[in-house]
Amino acid sequence: MTASTGKSATLTTPDGKTAELPVLSGVLGPNVIDIRKLYASTGMFTYDPGYTSTASTTSHITYIDGDEGVLLHRGYSIEELATKSDYLEVCHLLLNGELPTSAEKAQFVRDITYHTMLHEQIHFLFRGFRRDSHPMAVMIGVVGALSAFYYEDLNVEDKHHRMIATHRLIAKLPTIAAMAYKYTVGQPFVYPRNDLSYAENFLHMMFSVPCERYEVDPVHAKALDRIFILHADHEQNASTSTVRLVGSTGASPYAAIAAGIAALWGPAHGGANEAVLTMLREIGDPSRIPEFLEKAKDKDSGFRLMGFGHRVYKNYDPRAQVLKESADQVLAQLGKANNPLLAIARELEKIALSDDYFVKRKLFPNVDFYSGIILEALGIPSKMFTAIFALARTVGWVAQWDEMIEDPEQKIGRPRQLYAGHDRREFVPLDQRG
Ligand code: ACO
Repeated sequence: MTASTGKSATLTTPDGKTAELPVLSGVLGPNVIDIRKLYASTGMFTYDPGYTSTASTTSHITYIDGDEGVLLHRGYSIEELATKSDYLEVCHLLLNGELPTSAEKAQFVRDITYHTMLHEQIHFLFRGFRRDSHPMAVMIGVVGALSAFYYEDLNVEDKHHRMIATHRLIAKLPTIAAMAYKYTVGQPFVYPRNDLSYAENFLHMMFSVPCERYEVDPVHAKALDRIFILHADHEQNASTSTVRLVGSTGASPYAAIAAGIAALWGPAHGGANEAVLTMLREIGDPSRIPEFLEKAKDKDSGFRLMGFGHRVYKNYDPRAQVLKESADQVLAQLGKANNPLLAIARELEKIALSDDYFVKRKLFPNVDFYSGIILEALGIPSKMFTAIFALARTVGWVAQWDEMIEDPEQKIGRPRQLYAGHDRREFVPLDQRG
């Protein structure tokens, strides 16, 4: 709940105008200064590129304390959720605010399971893409195109309509991601199976082929389910803010989620998990770590240590901590404890965390640092890493979209700017431009 503290901050502009700005408090985290009336009372905007000091909304879903390395979903710690819960239970929590009862869970699992198939016509859409297309490019296109199949009669103001769209998105994203993979390797699309769990079904759609039996390895399914939980939501990050911004116009949720996928693809955001593996392969041997660290510290090199640093965490990303332990466990269970990339990652982390450059800037491993190693051990090609992130994050995006639509304080997202271009000038006809 947002509450007025009864206090205000006083701002006086150089031309002597004064604004009394209410100070609001949340349940956790810093207080905020409510600047909504600032322009009306002073004629001035605030300037905050990258929104580093701006709370864009009130939210009840996820809380991060970046200094302490804390991540809570609806009050529950990510460590507990990752080790004691499962992905669909976390989805229910994010969407509805509470962990489900047994009956609610059974109903929710059924609602998701029975929405996993795609309209058959969508299969033809895939054939328009080049076979070597990046799965994220395909996902942006196909998820956006869901609007053409499931949007006609969707009223975003209707809670029930939003719930159906939410179920469809969570259910169909794994099908779409697996199809994007199958398309690139030239194998037939595999239909979902209703007798499998969410993670098992995804592995089945990724790896089974019509000519032989495929049994899902429970170790693989458990490890993947945990990766899904760790990526489910992360408050107002770039892709979530994108979804909220697109959704604030009343646009189709499928279009908003496609925009979220586009935002996630960048190497500074979700694309980093693929980049981490590329980097670890390039390093190739622990003896080359110092060379790469020097490059990361050299601003002219344009190289950054992938999987390191975070806008909010100035401490160990708690998701990375869980994943680091998971990587050890899963690789041991799969008989891959001596994985050379894991050895390089561990050593790189150790050296970076004792290096002054990284210590001073509070650069710690983030969620992407260890996830790629686990995904690779499960046989998932690195081009699919960000697609897996996207399918797991879909629940966070739709939960935040739904919250935004219900929030009476939300308006269409429309930042302002500090204009630094030309002053007004006269148009010069073409024949007089010299
Ligand atoms: N390697 C080397 N130096 C870094 C790194 C890095 N990975 N990250 C930040 N720095 C340095 C910057 O050069 C800067 O140094 P300076 O103060 O001397 O100029 C300082 O640390 C602060 O960096 P900013 O770019 O201001 O930090 P910001 O909060 O804007 O960026 C970001 C965060 C984009 C995640 C950044 O740390 C980065 O590019 N990391 C690598 C990519 C990555 O792993 N992204 C995944 C993030 S998690 C996620 O999205 C799921």
